[in-house]
Amino acid sequence: MIEMKLISKRFGKINPLSIDEYIKFDGYKNLKKALSMEKTEIIEEVQKAYLRGRGGAGFPAAIKMMGLAKEANKDKYIICNADEGEPGNFKDRYLMENDPHQIIEGMIIVAYATGGTKGFIYVRGEYQKSMSLLKWSIDEAKKKGFLGQKIMGSKFNFDIEVRSGAGSYVCGEEFALIESIEGNPGRTRVKPPFPTQVGLYGKPTLINNVETFSTIPTIIEMGGVNFAKIGTPSSTGTKLISLSGNVKNKGVFEIPFGVPIKDVIYKLGGGIEKDRKIKMVQLGGACGPIIPEYMLDMIIDFERFEEFESKTGAGAIIVIDERFDIFTILLKVVRFFQHESCGKCTPCREGHIQLGNLIEKFIERKATMQDIASLESLARVIHQASLCGLGQTSPTAIISSLKYFRDDYIDRVEHPERG
Ligand SMILES: Cc1cc2nc3c(=O)[nH]c(=O)nc-3n(C[C@H](O)[C@H](O)[C@H](O)COP(=O)(O)O)c2cc1C
Ligand code: SF4
Repeated sequence: MIEMKLISKRFGKINPLSIDEYIKFDGYKNLKKALSMEKTEIIEEVQKAYLRGRGGAGFPAAIKMMGLAKEANKDKYIICNADEGEPGNFKDRYLMENDPHQIIEGMIIVAYATGGTKGFIYVRGEYQKSMSLLKWSIDEAKKKGFLGQKIMGSKFNFDIEVRSGAGSYVCGEEFALIESIEGNPGRTRVKPPFPTQVGLYGKPTLINNVETFSTIPTIIEMGGVNFAKIGTPSSTGTKLISLSGNVKNKGVFEIPFGVPIKDVIYKLGGGIEKDRKIKMVQLGGACGPIIPEYMLDMIIDFERFEEFESKTGAGAIIVIDERFDIFTILLKVVRFFQHESCGKCTPCREGHIQLGNLIEKFIERKATMQDIASLESLARVIHQASLCGLGQTSPTAIISSLKYFRDDYIDRVEHPERG
């Protein structure tokens, strides 16, 4: 069996509304253990685990924790990024709807280790059920003494508030998210300073993804060294995969890093509907690369994904079968980013409009060889000159398709009558 249920072990086994069921199933025992440890020891365990952020960029979690811990400010914030705006990703929703206390427990442990004084969970506006469940769970945790003043009889105080996004993709980017919580339009800021130095309301702030926080109690339980034995040297532990598109079994699956993409599609996803052929697979979400079927032996691993000049670790696998035209898919991707661009910088604001116009020429069968060259250079300009991760990653689908599906482009120019 290629599944390994560490952070999804309670999915379907407990009532997510019941804190008592969570407690019975090992809940809050890792917080108790953490409160008996030195703060530095907790960070060391996360470092030994080599936990990398699960929100997409794969940044080492312990480095952020050390960054926040060394700040002397009396107010330090912990933010859980539950914006999950990336098309094709829905694993954070599963975590919030199936095991909300695991996220809360992870946030409390991180706050204790780093001196965090207040927490926020920033939830995607469309996720109303997740929001209600989290608010309910926070109240339950307060009643049991896991949140609030003198947590579990210690001297540690910490509270969490839920905040809602308003449907903007870019608000998942850490500085845009901070602006949004502050009540401003969701636009990024120039880095440095980084959020751990100057974040929410100008105070040191640590931001991690839902899945990253959910993994912390497991690391405390099994120890960093044992956690790091799972997966691959560059990508330790397990990953939640959101599998969607033309597969028989869509859903969220937890696997150890290192499993080939093909196994996820065929062994967990049950293969392709009506046993059609795969045309392409998009990894990570709309901002990720599009690869052909012959590359599906590739393993799921941060290092391998970085080969695509993009950071695509959020864990979506979108399978598209032979009935679909690559240019129609690319146009949807480009128009999505055109709509979501915040407009702050020119390459992203204007570039997506022009990329869309060029792709439309392929769909209308009017494209020339010069259009292939223009598409390539424009995609690279957006990738290299954009201010934030939206523009830096949005052209990945185009850049990868030009590499792996170049014949489709040439064929459309040379034989517009085909297909
Ligand atoms: C345009 C854009 C959207 C993003 N959306 C999300 C999101 O919805 N959820 C998320 O966790 N990270 C998102 N990120 C990544 C965050 O900026 C940040 O790296 C992440 O929350 C850090 O958590 P991690 O280290 O645990 O992965 C986004 C980044 C960009 C550039
Ligand atoms: S890359 Fe796009 S989303 Fe990011 S700051 Fe520039 S215009 Fe805004």
